[in-house]
Amino acid sequence: MIEIFPISPEMANDFVQFTNKVIGQGYYTKSDFQDILTHSTKNNLCTSYVARESGSIIGVRITFPPGKWTKGRGNGLSPKLWKVPIESVGYFQSLFLNKEARGKGLGVQLSLKSIESLKALETKAVVCHSWVESPGNSSRKYLKKLGFETVKTYERYWFDVDYTCPRCGKPCTCTAEEMILYLD
Ligand SMILES: CC(C)(COP(=O)(O)OP(=O)(O)OC[C@H]1O[C@@H](n2cnc3c(N)ncnc32)[C@H](O)[C@@H]1OP(=O)(O)O)[C@@H](O)C(=O)NCCC(=O)NCCS
Repeated sequence: MIEIFPISPEMANDFVQFTNKVIGQGYYTKSDFQDILTHSTKNNLCTSYVARESGSIIGVRITFPPGKWTKGRGNGLSPKLWKVPIESVGYFQSLFLNKEARGKGLGVQLSLKSIESLKALETKAVVCHSWVESPGNSSRKYLKKLGFETVKTYERYWFDVDYTCPRCGKPCTCTAEEMILYLD
């Protein structure tokens, strides 16, 4: 049975093991996990979630509420192209599932949990940087299912992040598409 939980401090080791394997070695460290916890929590509500099966993490959805983020991991953000101010906007930072868990709607399910928490925090929109080269175009596909629209595209968005991309190695030369979903 798959269960969804908000992230919590005791998950640090499992979380980093999972992200090293699935996102890329070094993308998140244990200290990044502490920052993610802090930045995911507002008014005692946590907007980031993990999916677990038989006790193991099979997916992570990292989401920051308005006021708890200023930019994504890479280079490029265009708040001037949004219809609402950045102070009212949440951020979808990362969504990754185990290979075996993909293509079954779990990404949308995890994201809807985050959107529910964002709505409880009076969020007007949520922004993300979609991974254009994701396997099977799964990143843009799940975002479009949720109703996200394209804002702008950035080449080599993750180029300066010190990690090994599962597609192109180091440095990462993948493209990001900034996308937004208005929640009103
Ligand atoms: C992106 C992701 C979180 C989406 O979650 P999900 O539960 O797989 O989403 P869905 O079940 O709605 O599937 C989305 C689409 O991707 C396709 N897909 C997923 N994985 C695929 C793969 N490995 N190869 C080919 N297509 C794939 C699905 O068939 C589906 O297409 P459809 O809507 O035409 O049927 C998940 O596929 C994933 O972890 N992908 C790799 C990491 C990634 O790209 N993360 C986003 C970074 S911004």
